[in-house]
Amino acid sequence: MTEKQVKSGRRNFLKVLGGGAIMAAGAGSLFAFTRTPTKAIEPWKLALGPQSDADPRRIILSHSILAPNPHNRQPWIVDLEKEDEITLYCDLDKRLPHTDPYDRQITIGLGCFLELAVMTAKEIGMRSELTLFPEGENFPRLDQRPVARIRLQKDASVKPDPLFAQILERRSNKEGFDVSRKVQELDALNIIAVAERGLLTGSVMQSAKVEEMRKLTREALLVEMHTYRTNKESIDLMRMGKAEIEANPDGIDMGGVFLETLGLLGQLERDDLVNPESTAFKNGIPIILEPLETAMGYVFIKTQGNTRKDQIEAGRGYVRINLKATALGIAMHPLSQALQEYEEVKPQFEAIKQKLDVKPQETLQMFARIGYGEKPNPSPRWNYEAKIRSS
Ligand SMILES: Cc1cc2nc3c(=O)[nH]c(=O)nc-3n(C[C@H](O)[C@H](O)[C@H](O)COP(=O)(O)O)c2cc1C
Repeated sequence: MTEKQVKSGRRNFLKVLGGGAIMAAGAGSLFAFTRTPTKAIEPWKLALGPQSDADPRRIILSHSILAPNPHNRQPWIVDLEKEDEITLYCDLDKRLPHTDPYDRQITIGLGCFLELAVMTAKEIGMRSELTLFPEGENFPRLDQRPVARIRLQKDASVKPDPLFAQILERRSNKEGFDVSRKVQELDALNIIAVAERGLLTGSVMQSAKVEEMRKLTREALLVEMHTYRTNKESIDLMRMGKAEIEANPDGIDMGGVFLETLGLLGQLERDDLVNPESTAFKNGIPIILEPLETAMGYVFIKTQGNTRKDQIEAGRGYVRINLKATALGIAMHPLSQALQEYEEVKPQFEAIKQKLDVKPQETLQMFARIGYGEKPNPSPRWNYEAKIRSS
């Protein structure tokens, strides 16, 4: 089961399990209040203000760890050994070998991190000289070599980026969108216009085409859920309830009173969620698919090739469009299932490329639904200190 669908379906999980009385156990009560994973979302409050007198690298890191990234694995690890430099590595244990067999999406997440780093540096009057894969690119999987080196220098001529103001407000919104509220084509164009970096961007806004993409994203999700190893990869990363989220503020957070209560009552079993014959799995499917049906349009990013640098650039562009959408009050939710490179999803992978006119040499790197929706809570994060490599 994939993260967004699980998450957005969580309020409805009671239906999945066929119960009725459990809701009474907590909603709106003191229990609800005390179950918010406050520590796990603290890094959103701890971002150091541009006026802070801390080491500028810490100001930068306190923002860049808020980047979007696949399954919220937060695959970054940094080295601050050299003065005025940040060396970024991939934490190789945070990869997703089944749904992301070539570490493409993980690399995109690292690109999102780098873009927020560069943006924050500008905000504090610093120029960042970025060297990607200084010791070479790594294929087919990432390895222990550095992903990027950022050299920082004070430079009064750098211009701040207006998107910086949205970093703390940005979300991936995995809930259903308001189907009565259309997204204007011009807004979609304004969103993709900020991607920059030579990326090929596009949108799907026409209603018949949106309908086709809803169907395709639904099919791809079902493939992922019915493929044992890809489904299990997500289920294994679920953090159920406050204690698990606080202990491991990454992966797929399934918090809230409702899940807490189910957990306490022993009614939410991981084994059921990977078993297509179980009631939880069967009843859960329509609920999990529901948010996909509320897509009011889509935006996407392609690259000319598929080098590691292309993937980093795609990430840099993606977080920019996510921030621009935030500024316009438009919700965004990446849907990666049809873009994934494992065997079982090949028909949907080919179909989405054909529908979006992806040329043979091009790569579809990001695809996200857009619409209007209630702003969700921020997702958990490890604070940046936890991501600094100690030598
Ligand atoms: C490359 C990439 C792929 C992603 N794919 C999905 C996806 O298929 N489904 C989903 O719900 N979220 C997806 N996301 C969003 C992440 O789950 C999200 O960024 C993460 O949980 C952190 O939440 P936040 O963006 O609200 O901070 C993706 C993000 C990135 C960068």
